[in-house]
Formats: sequence, structure tokens, C-alpha cells
Amino acid sequence: MARLNTQVGIVGAGPAGLLLAHLLHLNGIDSVVIENRSREHVIDRVRAGVLEQGTVDLLVAMGVGDGALRRGLRHEGLYISFKGRRHRIDMAELTGGKAITVYGQNEVVKDLIDARAATGRRLYFEAAHVSVDGLDASQPIIRFEHDGTDHELGCDFIAGCDGFHGICRPSIPDGALTVYERIYPFGWLGLLVEAAPSSDELVYTHHERGFALFSMRSPAVTRLYFQVPPDEPIQHWSDAAIWDELLARMTTSDGWKPNIGRIVQKSVTPMRSFVATPMRHARLFLAGDAAHIVPPTGAKGLNLAASDVLVLARALKAFYEHRREEWLDEYSDVCLRRVWKAQRFSWWMTSTLHHSPDGSAFDHQRQIADLDYLTSSRAAMTSLAEQYVGLPADVSLDSVGL
Ligand code: FAD
Ligand code: PHB
Repeated sequence: MARLNTQVGIVGAGPAGLLLAHLLHLNGIDSVVIENRSREHVIDRVRAGVLEQGTVDLLVAMGVGDGALRRGLRHEGLYISFKGRRHRIDMAELTGGKAITVYGQNEVVKDLIDARAATGRRLYFEAAHVSVDGLDASQPIIRFEHDGTDHELGCDFIAGCDGFHGICRPSIPDGALTVYERIYPFGWLGLLVEAAPSSDELVYTHHERGFALFSMRSPAVTRLYFQVPPDEPIQHWSDAAIWDELLARMTTSDGWKPNIGRIVQKSVTPMRSFVATPMRHARLFLAGDAAHIVPPTGAKGLNLAASDVLVLARALKAFYEHRREEWLDEYSDVCLRRVWKAQRFSWWMTSTLHHSPDGSAFDHQRQIADLDYLTSSRAAMTSLAEQYVGLPADVSLDSVGL
């Protein structure tokens, strides 16, 4: 049995865990990161792609933003397409110059793993049987097995950054959490395609056959999604059927359509909205998908993970430097205000753009009116733009020493 100690034990090496680890390092606070999957698996996982302006600013201020600045694609606008026409929303013009950056989550994770390695601080991949214990005690413990040896890690605090299916949230005693949840009657089939993007900006399409989304990863790689039933077996979709469906939904009356190419990856993701409150139980703090899930239509999940850990890092810094506990006590409330606004936005984008299998003809006409209003009112476009690029941060970079 190996016995270790640290200040903050972090479960999960996704964006939340790795960002927190680096923010703590920059403030001289020790942490140990424990991840149950392999380094390759974590880096190869294709997921989010849209970074809010504030997320990019955070990465840059932390000294890990070179990749996002150099290889990321800055987008100042996006398209909403319905009834066969694309309508551009000029986000930069409507928000005083703000934009989003398209940069794969796996690239962000890779940059952060490299940064962690350079600090010499501990990060365990392929940790088995991870569990947390003694959350109410002064020194909670993370247990795990690594390379055949049992480990016991004593911590001042535990950060549960282990995603929606992790072990931290379920370790909180029954009755201590309130859960809010909505499950949608559809999912997304996501594709990575070797084809140059046929648009410089994202295209969100409303179509009576179902929602479709055009995105990208690089000047040579297109990322596409389309609405399918939530439990759709992927083998139901041959490549030919996928292209027929995508072209039927996405082609606009001016002839725009995605370029066809070799499909190199495909997967189905169900869609849900989920919030567990409070995001703290005694010495365990939940951050990112461990505490909340949004449907991906608003592109908010990774960005919320980043804003949670910024709030947590501020609180831990104040604790270690001044023994101040108020910010630890406020952690959940500060995060949840932003989380609920992102929930509302993601729900609105999802319900406005998808075809609901149980929706009526009335619902369909209301969606069209919503989209017509959105794309013809400067006020409505400004509302979408300011939420899409990211609402102002609740915590300054200054407060985490950046
Ligand atoms: P995760 O990325 O899930 O990381 C959790 C980590 O914990 C993982 O590495 C996992 O292996 C590890 N772990 C799990 N259990 C254990 C355990 N027992 N012990 C140790 N480690 C464990 N968000 C956006 O902002 N923009 C987008 O454009 C966007 N698009 C998306 C598209 C799709 C198809 C999907 C599925 C998601 C999308 N998201 C998007 C959401 C985004 O990917 C997540 O919100 C983000 O990954 C959350 O980061 P996290 O670190 O909280 O959790
Ligand atoms: C992506 O590029 O993966 C992406 C873009 C926008 C979304 C969701 C995912 O809303």
C-alpha cells in the first residue's frame, strides 16, 4: 500500500481537472490528478469544439493558449439556417468585438497534459477502482490502484472533475443533493470527415427532417452532427445514408452544402440537461460535467467546466493564502448562477432548432416564427451573440493571480 498526501486531490483528467490542476500549480498549490483511462484515450476522445472568448483568454493568461491561438479558428459570426436559407449573425459586431474559437477539446486536453508534465507534479493515468472516502473528515481520502499497487491519497480537499459518469457525485450521501433533469427525445450522430469546410463559419440548421450542424476542426477536417433518435444504433447508418440525410437537411436554396469526404469517426450522443445542487459536499467540490450537463446545441459544456474551476481556484487560493473560507462557501452559488443561464440558453437553442417527435404543427410554426424573429431583430441577434460568445465572467483572472 502506497500512502501519499497532497493539498487538492483531483479525480478526472478532462478539461475541468487539468485546468484546475494548472491553475493551482500557478498559485503554488500542490495537487494529484487521478484518471481512470489511458493518456491516449483521453487525448483521442473527439468531443467539444467551441471555446468562448473568456475560455481562450483564460488559457492564454495561464500560458497554455498557444495552440488555441495558433491552430484554433477564430469565428466572428455563425449561420442559422431554416426554410432553405442561411442567415448570418455577426457576433463580433453585436458584442463589441468578441468571437469564439473553434479548437478541438482533445487539443485543449493535450496542451494541458503537456503543461502538467512540465510542472513535474503528479498525474496518474489508468488508475483502477477509484473511490473517495471521509468527505466530512478533516483529511478526506482518494483510494485507487495503479500498476498493481493500492494507493491511499490524503487530501485537504477533493475536486470531483470526473464527468457525468464519474464516482464523486454518487459518493455524496443520499438526500444531500437536489437533482434537476430533462432528457430530450433525440440524440446527435456526430461525424469527423476528411473534407475542407465549405463554410468559414458554423451553420445550425432547422429542418423538418431534423436538426443538423456544420462545424469543423481544421482547414482539412469538417465536423458534422445530425439529429437521430436517442438510442439509435450507429450501424443503422451506412456512409451513403448519412450523406443523403445530411444533404437533404443542409443544402440551401443558394446551393450551399457541406463537402463530402471520408468519414473517419462516428458516434451517437444522447442529449440531456442536468444540474446537481449544491456543487459541494463538505470537503468535496464538484466541477464541470460531474455537476451539470447541457445539450451540446449551445456549445457550453467545456466552457462551463472552465468557469467552474476558475471559481474553485479563486476560493482555494484565498483559503491557502489567507485562511479565508467565504469563497469556498460561495463556490456553489457563484457557479450555479452561470450554469443556469447556460442551461436556459442550451435548452432554448435545442428546443428551437430540433424537430421534436412529439411536437405538433403548432410547435413547428412557433419554431419558424422564433427563428424568423431571431434573424430579423437586432435585439434578438444580440441576445444570442452575447450568450454564444460567453456572458461576462463572475470571477476576474486577477483573483487567481493571472
Ligand atoms: P470530462 O471531459 O467528461 O472529463 C472527466 C474525466 O474524468 C474523463 O477523463 C474521465 O475518463 C475521468 N473519469 C471518469 N470516471 C472516473 C473515475 N472513476 N476515476 C477517475 N477518472 C474518472 N462543450 C462545449 O463547450 N462546446 C462544444 O462545442 C461541445 N460540444 C460537444 C459535443 C459533443 C458530441 C459532446 C458529447 C459534448 C460536447 N461538449 C461541448 C461538452 C464537453 O465535451 C463537456 O462538457 C466537457 O468534456 C466537460 O469536461 P469535464 O472535464 O467536466 O468532464
Ligand atoms: C463542434 O464543433 O464539435 C460543436 C460545435 C458547436 C456545437 C457543438 C459542437 O454547438
